[in-house]
Amino acid sequence: MNVILAKTAGFCFGVRRAVRLAEKSASNSCKCVTLGPIIHNDSVIEKLSGLGVGKVDNISDIEPGSKVIIRSHGISEKEYNELKEKNVEIIDATCPDVGKIHETVRNESKDGRKIIIIGKPTHPEVSAIAGWCSGAFIAETSENLHNLLNLNPNLKESPVSVVSQTTNTRENYELCIKIIKKECTNTKIFDTICDATSKRQAEADYLSRVCDAMIVIGGRHSANSRQLAEICKANCKRVFFIE
Ligand code: F3S
Repeated sequence: MNVILAKTAGFCFGVRRAVRLAEKSASNSCKCVTLGPIIHNDSVIEKLSGLGVGKVDNISDIEPGSKVIIRSHGISEKEYNELKEKNVEIIDATCPDVGKIHETVRNESKDGRKIIIIGKPTHPEVSAIAGWCSGAFIAETSENLHNLLNLNPNLKESPVSVVSQTTNTRENYELCIKIIKKECTNTKIFDTICDATSKRQAEADYLSRVCDAMIVIGGRHSANSRQLAEICKANCKRVFFIE
């Protein structure tokens, strides 16, 4: 049997950076917590917990004097300001690629443009992006987007700026962009699918066309890993998605 290991397998640079920052921040002298799970991977979270890095889900649960690590998904501007008002040390591990999207939507929104985010509305990265602009519209699929535009006909005449969740598939984003360009008169499209994601998706697409079976190893709750499994399933009958 010939086993091929994908060249792009492993954590992306944003997650590696966040985990490294969390490891460096572990301290015995004060409480150190991540705001939400730092990564969708239970064994890494367990290892960090062994080093003394805990997890809280809400800002109100953070004790004064703690170190707080913002995970790679980032947080909203409101949450960021809330943290600043607390007596805590902020370690910002927001992925730089995600940070750029925050800046983009913030500036576009300040310029009076409406923001459309193509992504999963309940994903923390997407809700954080929406929290850096005012009144963002969110659509996950081309079907959702059609409904969104029908329900908000004013959008078609408004200046609209579009960004994507970093882990979106290129196929889905391009389909949505096509609709927006067709329906809306004044659009600015930002290519915000991250490079690490694009490369992994392209390699998964290629390997799943030439292999008899694919094993995708990743967190059950990881949007990235789930997308890779979906891409493989489109080309290969035997796809095993395991943690
Ligand atoms: Fe990873 Fe950052 Fe992309 S966290 S998936 S490199 S946006």
